[in-house]
Amino acid sequence: MNATNDICRSWLPFLPGDPAETVRCAYDMARSELNIARESGMNLPQIILNLQEDMGESFRIAKTEDGYQVSGGEPGVLYGTYRLLMALYAKEKVVCGTTPCKPFYGLRMINCWDNAEGTVERGYAGMSLFFDGGRLSYDARRMRQLGRMLASVGLNVLCINNVNVHDPAHLLIEEEWLPELARLADLFRPFGVRLMLSIDYAQPIRHGIPTADPLDEAVQNWWKKQAEMVYRYVPDLAGFLVKADSEHRPGPFTYGRNHAQGANMLARALKPFGGWLVWRCFVYNCMQDWRDTQTDRPKAAYEHYAWLDGRFDDNVILQIKNGPYDFQVSEPVSPLLYAMPQTHLAVEVQLAQEYTGQQIDLYAMAPMWKELFRDLPAQKVMAVAAVSNLGRDWNFTGHPFAAVNLFTYGLMAWWPDCVEDSESLMRLWVKLTYRLSEEQENTLVDMLLNSRSIYAKYAANLGLGWMVYPHTHYGPNPGGYEFTPWGTYHKADRNGVGVDRSDKGTGYAQQYPEPFQSLYNDPAACPDELLLFFHRLSYDHVMKDGRTLIQRLYDDHFEGLAGAEHLAEQLATLDLPEPDAAEAHKRMQQQLHNAREWCDITNTFFHRYSGVEDARGRTIYP
Ligand code: GCU
Repeated sequence: MNATNDICRSWLPFLPGDPAETVRCAYDMARSELNIARESGMNLPQIILNLQEDMGESFRIAKTEDGYQVSGGEPGVLYGTYRLLMALYAKEKVVCGTTPCKPFYGLRMINCWDNAEGTVERGYAGMSLFFDGGRLSYDARRMRQLGRMLASVGLNVLCINNVNVHDPAHLLIEEEWLPELARLADLFRPFGVRLMLSIDYAQPIRHGIPTADPLDEAVQNWWKKQAEMVYRYVPDLAGFLVKADSEHRPGPFTYGRNHAQGANMLARALKPFGGWLVWRCFVYNCMQDWRDTQTDRPKAAYEHYAWLDGRFDDNVILQIKNGPYDFQVSEPVSPLLYAMPQTHLAVEVQLAQEYTGQQIDLYAMAPMWKELFRDLPAQKVMAVAAVSNLGRDWNFTGHPFAAVNLFTYGLMAWWPDCVEDSESLMRLWVKLTYRLSEEQENTLVDMLLNSRSIYAKYAANLGLGWMVYPHTHYGPNPGGYEFTPWGTYHKADRNGVGVDRSDKGTGYAQQYPEPFQSLYNDPAACPDELLLFFHRLSYDHVMKDGRTLIQRLYDDHFEGLAGAEHLAEQLATLDLPEPDAAEAHKRMQQQLHNAREWCDITNTFFHRYSGVEDARGRTIYP
């Protein structure tokens, strides 16, 4: 593929070029995509499309005498078409049936952290796809390609701007920018993708209103008027996303109001238009004094929100990060997800590899989501959101293999049980993306499957987090966050490491219902991968497998490095097309360097504190 003249088709190489600009609805898009696939040389049987409006997002694929019939609504028929095309291209079994295939979650969202000036917060795939130089600026062909990618895995909401709304992105809901926004929404509509916008909670203040108090009538009226205008331009906008009272963003606390009062005020402005108000629960004290042992950051979200259960309007969704901290390698499921049975909830994951290798190191996330969904009270959660890993790089995701995370996230958001078999999901991605021999296909699947545990071993084993360089969050810096105001401490000393969050410590484990409370409270029961998240243990603590804690710390780091070296050997055996091969090899060299640094620095760090030698006599630098 020529990266400069063509648009990357990511996992959809059987859909070359660009769907026609004139296609207006999902049904027509489905017809157009079938034609494109045929013209690209795919040998397709007869495929009948049967639009059944009342099926909405659902679809059904049925076998006919000469091929298949895809039934579905707008956009279900398009989802079904993509699924059928993918199965045929990958030579997988087409799942036919009489019961419609329905999404488990109604809202399957991508949250882009793109800034109006064109940068992407925590973006590892280049500049923004949507903004440049302080305005909306996009390539329509790439938008259609992105629409294909999202719809092919059933994602239906795209929030285009950063939750930290830096100027001039606040203009997205102002008349000046709305015509351009409407054009962008038009591009995504035929893919069943609705736009969402992050808003600045204090926006009324920019309009001469002296306050952003949610109980102030002038504030309420301003938001109502504003919402009405936004919906005039984009009638199917999915809603607003809000980061309030979090990491210095404005919010209702300034006015002595709680978050139900803040969220409901905005939700009422959106209600007449069917919009959702998605309110993030990432609220904690980011100005903590490290000497303060009473405050324990993971407890914060529960303390702020659990008591408000039942007080939110029905078009409010509370968006809760998967873990109580912030997208670390190993975190328990946020206890808040169990605590609000009368409130609409969304779980937020992060595709952008902020703490997980920054789209340099390999880190395929499906195995991690398997653990999340195993423990998630699924029926209580009605939506999922993922922080995007997309950018303007030729292949959308920087590392060509990072696309597997967007792909598997979409499939999981449609039907979370599918992560049970993350191997099949990854294999499907490999088959769609590359034409490899069976042996090479197995190698790549194996690399993806193991990538997370390899990374976790060298970078953050046993539930340890935050040993990274502050701000950039890439590479080892074991003491980097110890004396900062972020509430992120592992407190290693000569005796041991970890924070006691049991009933004898900060009491965080008490925020969980059973069986989790007992599981996490007791170091003998707590899963190894969360052990140092919940407990402070001495280096001679004997682990379930009989090794001491210090030996496990050393062993994991050496194994992690060996794992990265093995990944490099495996990569060398793959015949990947260019430029994927060059990109993957370049990044692998960086990963090897990173893994070595992690292994040596962390081992030395613990050796200096503990004074304990490695039982296997490997080199630990003084
Ligand atoms: C992390 C991340 C920030 C981001 C924040 C959020 O702290 O480092 O860049 O703004 O999460 O989720 O709001």
